[in-house]
Amino acid sequence: MTNAEKTSVLITGANKGLGLETARRLGAEGWKVFLGSRDEARGRAAADKLAAAGADVVMVPLDVTSDASVAAAVRLVREHTDRLDVLVNNAGAAGNVTPPAQATAEEVHAVYDTNVYGPIRVTNAFLPLLQAADNPRVVMVSSGGGSFAVMADPTQQVTKMHELAYSSSKAALNMITVRYAQALPHVKVNALTPGEVVNHKFTATDMNHHTGQLTVTEGSDPIIELATLGEDGPSGIFIDRLGPIGW
Ligand SMILES: NC(=O)c1ccc[n+]([C@@H]2O[C@H](COP(=O)([O-])OP(=O)(O)OC[C@H]3O[C@@H](n4cnc5c(N)ncnc54)[C@H](OP(=O)(O)O)[C@@H]3O)[C@@H](O)[C@H]2O)c1
Repeated sequence: MTNAEKTSVLITGANKGLGLETARRLGAEGWKVFLGSRDEARGRAAADKLAAAGADVVMVPLDVTSDASVAAAVRLVREHTDRLDVLVNNAGAAGNVTPPAQATAEEVHAVYDTNVYGPIRVTNAFLPLLQAADNPRVVMVSSGGGSFAVMADPTQQVTKMHELAYSSSKAALNMITVRYAQALPHVKVNALTPGEVVNHKFTATDMNHHTGQLTVTEGSDPIIELATLGEDGPSGIFIDRLGPIGW
C-alpha cells in the first residue's frame, strides 16, 4: 500500500491521554497518523514511541487556540498528502472547576478557546483536505458533562460538581457537531464521550488526575468507532462506548 492509499487521520492533543491512545490504535491499523501536539518536545517524544512500534506517524505542532499554528499545521499536512480522511478534535481543557457564581469571563473564555473555538478553527482549516477524501469524518471528543440529558439526571455525580466553563463548552461543542452535520452532508460529523454514561464511568487521564474507572483503550473505543465509520455510517450522532446517548 502506498502512502497515498493509506487512510489518514489528524488528531489534536495527541501527545498523551485519549489522543495518544487513538493515535496508537489507528497507527496499529496501518493508518497514516498526523499527531497534533501544542508542545513540540512532548509531541516528538510521543510520535517517536509510536514510530518505534511501527506506526507511520508525523508529528504536527498544533495549538488549537492559535490561527497561525492551525494554518502552519495545514501547510505541514499538505506536504504529506492531498487529502485527509479523518479529523479527531480531541484537544481539550478542563479549566479550574470554578462554580458558576465565582466564574470569570476570562476563565470561561480560555476554556472555550480550546474546547469550542479550537474545533471550529481546526475543522474549517482542514475542510478542503477533508472534502478531497471519499468518506471524510470529523470526530468531536465531547463529554457527558456537555449533555443536557446527563445534567437533568440527579443520579449523575457530575450534577453535584458545580462548575461552568467545561460543561457549557462541551454543550456548545455538541450543538456545533449537529450544525456541521446538517450543513455538510458529505462529511460525517459526530460526537462522543469517552465514558459509559449509564454506568457513571469516565476515563483515567491527567485531566481528571486519573480518577476515572476506564482505561484509555476503553475510553477511546467510541473515538475509534466514529473514526472508522463506513460510507453508510451516520452523521450528527452522540455516543459513548456502549452506544447512542442523550444530548
Ligand atoms: N478523560 C475523560 O474521562 C474525559 C471525559 C469527557 C471528555 N474528555 C475529553 O477527552 C479529550 C482528551 O482528554 P484526556 O482525558 O485525554 O486529557 P489529557 O490527557 O489531559 O489530554 C488533553 C490533551 O489536550 C491537549 N491540549 C490542551 N489544550 C490544547 C491546545 N490549546 N492545543 C492543542 N492541544 C491542547 C493537551 O496537551 P498538553 O499535554 O500540552 O497539555 C493534551 O494532549 C478532551 O477533549 C476532554 O475534554 C475526557
